[in-house]
Amino acid sequence: MAATLAIASSALSTLYRIVVYLFLEVAPISRAKYVIPVLYLGYLLTSYLGTPAFSEILTLKQEVVTVEQEKSETNGNVVTDVSVQETTAVIPVVEPPTLRSALSTIIFSVPSPVRALRRANLLINTLLLLAVAEFVFFPYFDSATDVVYTRVGAIYPDAAKVVVRYPAANATENLVRLVWRQADGKNQSEVPWREGPIANLTAERDWVQTVNLRGLWPNTPYEYRFEDLNNTLLPYPSAPIRFHTAPDPRLHSGSHFRFIASSCMTPNFPYLPLQGRRIKGLDLLADYLWPSESQSAAASLPTVIAQNVSSALSSLASKATASGNSTSAENATAPIMPPTNVTHEVAADQSVPPTEFMVFMGDFIYADVPIYFGDDAEAYRRLYRRNYNSPSFRKVYERLPIIHTYDDHEIINNYAGLGNTSLPPYPNATNAFELYNAEANYDPIDEGQYYFDFRYGDAAFFVMDTRRYRSDIFSDEPTSHTMLGDKQLAALYNWLGKVNNTAVFKFVVSSVPFTALWTYEALEDTWAAFPYEKSALLSAFQSVPNVIVLSGDRHEFAAIEFAAGDNGHNVLEISTSPMSMFYVPFIRTLKPRSEEVVNRTREEVVKTEDGKEEVVKVVEEVPREKVVKYIAEGNYKWSTLEVDTRDYDHPVVRVEIMIDGKPAYNLEVLGKPVKLQSTTALGSLMPQFKGVLDKIGLKPSRWF
Ligand SMILES: *[C@@H]1O[C@H](CO)[C@@H](O)[C@H](O)[C@H]1NC(C)=O
Ligand SMILES: *[C@@H]1O[C@H](CO)[C@@H](O)[C@H](O)[C@H]1NC(C)=O
Ligand SMILES: *[C@@H]1O[C@H](CO)[C@@H](O)[C@H](O)[C@H]1NC(C)=O
Ligand SMILES: *[C@@H]1O[C@H](CO)[C@@H](O)[C@H](O)[C@H]1NC(C)=O
Ligand SMILES: *[C@@H]1O[C@H](CO)[C@@H](O)[C@H](O)[C@H]1NC(C)=O
Ligand SMILES: *[C@@H]1O[C@H](CO)[C@@H](O)[C@H](O)[C@H]1NC(C)=O
Ligand SMILES: *[C@@H]1O[C@H](CO)[C@@H](O)[C@H](O)[C@H]1NC(C)=O
Ligand SMILES: *[C@@H]1O[C@H](CO)[C@@H](O)[C@H](O)[C@H]1NC(C)=O
Ligand SMILES: *[C@@H]1O[C@H](CO)[C@@H](O)[C@H](O)[C@H]1NC(C)=O
Ligand SMILES: *[C@@H]1O[C@H](CO)[C@@H](O)[C@H](O)[C@H]1NC(C)=O
Ligand SMILES: *[C@@H]1O[C@H](CO)[C@@H](O)[C@H](O)[C@H]1NC(C)=O
Ligand SMILES: *[C@@H]1O[C@H](CO)[C@@H](O)[C@H](O)[C@H]1NC(C)=O
Repeated sequence: MAATLAIASSALSTLYRIVVYLFLEVAPISRAKYVIPVLYLGYLLTSYLGTPAFSEILTLKQEVVTVEQEKSETNGNVVTDVSVQETTAVIPVVEPPTLRSALSTIIFSVPSPVRALRRANLLINTLLLLAVAEFVFFPYFDSATDVVYTRVGAIYPDAAKVVVRYPAANATENLVRLVWRQADGKNQSEVPWREGPIANLTAERDWVQTVNLRGLWPNTPYEYRFEDLNNTLLPYPSAPIRFHTAPDPRLHSGSHFRFIASSCMTPNFPYLPLQGRRIKGLDLLADYLWPSESQSAAASLPTVIAQNVSSALSSLASKATASGNSTSAENATAPIMPPTNVTHEVAADQSVPPTEFMVFMGDFIYADVPIYFGDDAEAYRRLYRRNYNSPSFRKVYERLPIIHTYDDHEIINNYAGLGNTSLPPYPNATNAFELYNAEANYDPIDEGQYYFDFRYGDAAFFVMDTRRYRSDIFSDEPTSHTMLGDKQLAALYNWLGKVNNTAVFKFVVSSVPFTALWTYEALEDTWAAFPYEKSALLSAFQSVPNVIVLSGDRHEFAAIEFAAGDNGHNVLEISTSPMSMFYVPFIRTLKPRSEEVVNRTREEVVKTEDGKEEVVKVVEEVPREKVVKYIAEGNYKWSTLEVDTRDYDHPVVRVEIMIDGKPAYNLEVLGKPVKLQSTTALGSLMPQFKGVLDKIGLKPSRWF
């Protein structure tokens, strides 16, 4: 009986260790949090009850050794000699374990007569349990309530959104003023600070606020910091935060910039002990974006290179001086200095343009992995604070503007909102998302929505909300299922029409993959579950040149080509994730191509019977969706997209896939030339009239 228990103990211990390893290093499957304590208790119980067995097992193996032992015992003052002949047979002499048996005991928990080894096993298994507890409950114990941070979100040609969190002790509100100035690399100390907007930080809003800094110049570097209302500089940030504005979209001189796209992150996964604030993928991203930093601080000074746009700007500058104070929402303390030279920070290597922003495509937090703390406003907020408290993330968000969409794990796994914002846990989940991530996004197309569009140079972006309007795919008519909802669909179609001839590349951002090639659970959570809406959208995408879909969610990388018929344009999807999270080893879930095909006409030269050459049209069937490249492995993935439209006839997007900090794949997307039409007359008068436009309710996002 006891021997059986000892074997059970060994088996349970080994199973326990495997599950813990999978949970902490491979994938933090939620169910493991129940399995692990059960296995641990099972191990404890069986090893405790099975202990006597060790000596039994041993006595069978041991020769009976008779030891003559004479002991003197002091009993008061009487000294008695005790002889222990024969009886020692049941107390076997334990031979020191061989290295091999010790190792097998430690590794496989093989029953051992050596108490120290059994204790070592107990210690190992208990430490593993503590590791699991640390991983699961870290956000609870490190709730980051006093994290102070700032970051830049949306950047317009003439404005920027800045988030600040600055909690105050023993108060219910804290007023913090942003001060700012141009930062074009001249004698910076001579440039006066200007008073910007005041952030009214309240405990109710978790001390976080987004302010709008307006009246800026296109493509110009700025810096900002914070003061209290008495103009005392606040300790954070210790050095001014820099950013630069988006280029003037009216200068059709072509774009050349990079941006990052990725999604999905959880701090300290794969787990390391006592590293709860680390997000390794973001450490890698920071090293990638600013490599000089890690090598030598001196080499990190960016070279300032004049852009070739001064002539275009001279007219603009004279107009803007006149309208400077009317467009600025703040009280200017210094005259606006029209830039005589628009400068632009670029990396020393001119062939690599600067990285302007990151598009984070959701699963910024995992509200329900490995544990769901419940539908509680604080539980959601805590997870956002935790990320902003991460030194890894701080390196990135203090220097790189980030725009966000959400996905299911900001709410709960595979969430479908049914278009009803009062269904729990949506209200609490989106309250936190809004405060921390969404408010700094570009202005929404429709009031109160999380979908939005924006432009950067001659590239246009539409960021979808794939959760709020998503219908229940298990009920109703399949044809009525919607991912986006009517209003958002209308906005998307409208945007497609608008950018058709006014932007070169069009990026459609969907948190979940547009392709239906991912199988298993993806069939319910991605666009695969909404075939009707998807098919209609795809036709619309294919009527527009140069559409690229960006997505995340699957914790894998894939590039998918959607073939068009004869009159359409191919669409490319690039799905990249996770930024810093698990990937599933061994199991591959992406089909190489779709069964659905499209007919394409190809011209072929054939020889006729009389030897002449003749061109005939051949109709061939090609799969509608086809994998161009698939890389599943890697805990840390992002895509860098370099948009280069400087050569009008050959616009190109160069995609670099970075996995675990190393380049894994490069893709060149050759675009079609797009003859850009001027945007609206109103837009072309910006920024002169932008104050007026604001007043009559036209949002900056509607200018172009
Ligand atoms: C806040 O209040 C607590 C107790 O009421 C006090 O101990 C602490 O010093 C106060 N902190 C500040 C910054 O005033
Ligand atoms: C920068 O400005 C400061 C203050 O006006 C001045 O002391 C310093 O000499 C200037 N430096 C340069 C390089 O012009
Ligand atoms: C700050 O916000 C709170 C809550 O919205 C409000 O009661 C308070 O008056 C505001 N303070 C200022 C100075 O605007
Ligand atoms: C500003 O200064 C006054 C007087 O020195 C002080 O009473 C007040 O609390 C200060 N306000 C802030 C926001 O620091
Ligand atoms: C810069 O300006 C020069 C002279 O005006 C012009 O020849 C050149 O093509 C411009 N370069 C770019 C990249 O616009
Ligand atoms: C702009 O500033 C000038 C000088 O301070 C002032 O005369 C003018 O009225 C201001 N314009 C507006 C629209 O505020
Ligand atoms: C800014 O100017 C407006 C009107 O000129 C004035 O009412 C307001 O108090 C000023 N704000 C600050 C912070 O000086
Ligand atoms: C503009 O920048 C260029 C290059 O840095 C410099 O040579 C030129 O003097 C600058 N012009 C002005 C007016 O500052
Ligand atoms: C949201 O969070 C609050 C505060 O934690 C809680 O009282 C409430 O029940 C939660 N759910 C909803 C739907 O508001
Ligand atoms: C949203 O859901 C709540 C709770 O189920 C329900 O009372 C409400 O009528 C719904 N609202 C809409 C617009 O469907
Ligand atoms: C884009 O423009 C082309 C022709 O210029 C047109 O056929 C197509 O329908 C347009 N697509 C959309 C979505 O407006
Ligand atoms: C492709 O063409 C074949 C014959 O030419 C036709 O039978 C088939 O329906 C077409 N398929 C599609 C998807 O249009």
